[in-house]
Amino acid sequence: MALWGGRFSETGREELTRFSESISFDKRLYKHDIMGSKAHVTMLAAQKIIPQATAEAIKAKLDAIQGMIDRGEMEFKAELEDIHMHIESTLIAALGDEGAWLHSARSRNDQVALDIRLYLRDELDSIIEGIRSFQKALVDLADANKTVILPGFTHLQHAQVVLFAHHLLAYVEMLDRDAERLADCRKRVNVMPLGSGALAGSTLPIDRELVCRQLDFSRVTRNSMDAVADRDFAIETASALAIFGMHVSRLSEDIILWSSQEFNFIELADAFCTGSSLMPQKKNPDVAELSRGKTARLYGSLTALLTLCKGLPLTYNRDLQEDKIPLFDAIDTAHAILMVYPPMIATMNVHADRMRAMAADPALMATDVAEKLVELGVPFRTAHHRVGSLVKYCREHNKELDEVTLEEMQITIPEATAEFLKLFDPEESVGKREITGGTGYKAVASQLEYWKKQLQ
Ligand code: ARG
Repeated sequence: MALWGGRFSETGREELTRFSESISFDKRLYKHDIMGSKAHVTMLAAQKIIPQATAEAIKAKLDAIQGMIDRGEMEFKAELEDIHMHIESTLIAALGDEGAWLHSARSRNDQVALDIRLYLRDELDSIIEGIRSFQKALVDLADANKTVILPGFTHLQHAQVVLFAHHLLAYVEMLDRDAERLADCRKRVNVMPLGSGALAGSTLPIDRELVCRQLDFSRVTRNSMDAVADRDFAIETASALAIFGMHVSRLSEDIILWSSQEFNFIELADAFCTGSSLMPQKKNPDVAELSRGKTARLYGSLTALLTLCKGLPLTYNRDLQEDKIPLFDAIDTAHAILMVYPPMIATMNVHADRMRAMAADPALMATDVAEKLVELGVPFRTAHHRVGSLVKYCREHNKELDEVTLEEMQITIPEATAEFLKLFDPEESVGKREITGGTGYKAVASQLEYWKKQLQ
């Protein structure tokens, strides 16, 4: 008979049992479930709701149960529905009536809310740590390639020259906001719901603050109905992870392009690629592709959680049991990406010569010519038009921008001087962009310094 079976005359149809179980996925909450129960029982004894000796017996048995599950000795059964019932029924089987005191002033509704929050707190910490390692790998790669120049793109067209380090550090910024979002989300996860009961709290004189202190939460929830009904903290987590995935997916796209024959800007280490079962010459950037693909799952988790909650009347509804599948999948997916990505970054080979060769196209410096004219007092729109005419002239005469004579240049740009002919050097072009946030050598060096200090 199920622990809730008192009012039922018939229970346990096999298909129904299988349909409603969550143990197959919520068993991963066992440590947090036990941690919560120990804090709860300590409080029950402190409030004299149960005898001290009973509390001690329950806590000792809970520790034993944790050991049992650690060692894989707990037999998980669909009839026992979820992790809460598995632990409680094992406890009651061992302690009899003494164990039956544990669930006083508690419902699985507030218990599961507590478990997810405890679990998420740990996972958020470890994902944030993983993101820090990811950033470090990018910073190290940038540091090792401080002077490497490549074309920067807009619309996937060659635009202006930039430092490779600048490009990498753009992702370090994005990852930093991802970590910040997760840390901010953690503040709202870190609120203690136990004591909310099924929805209306308890008539027993519980001390929620004592539970809160034991479990190191920042405060207790203010409203029992909110506490058992909402999963916005899980949605926020999935949302922050979806954005993280979006960033990783963009980096993946860059890496996939860079490692193509057309770009040939980098080569990934063999360990992070696979071959083709058909084409012997292939070396595919699978980690980047799979990370881009797994990002779809992160979006799916967010969508599933939002949809799960949108039509639910207050308070708890059984639908909420389904929150764990997408939430856990999002957590697992983030961990999986974070396991493989930093070492892939750390081991990639940068083809600096190839990048430099592509950066040599004088057209990348066309904007520099227009800005030179601005310095000489020509309004930018006029300057832009003149340089545009020079580009047209070059196309018509089948010449590169740096192949025209001063006289030819002066046809479209009357203000041009000999100095203008020297504006097509990519190193010089980068070197002139020393404003804060720019791609100048010094500007990028100070970004690097900032991140090295930040990530220590
Ligand atoms: N397994 C359930 C869940 O994950 C626990 C709460 C069940 N509560 C209930 N009244 N059936 O949401």
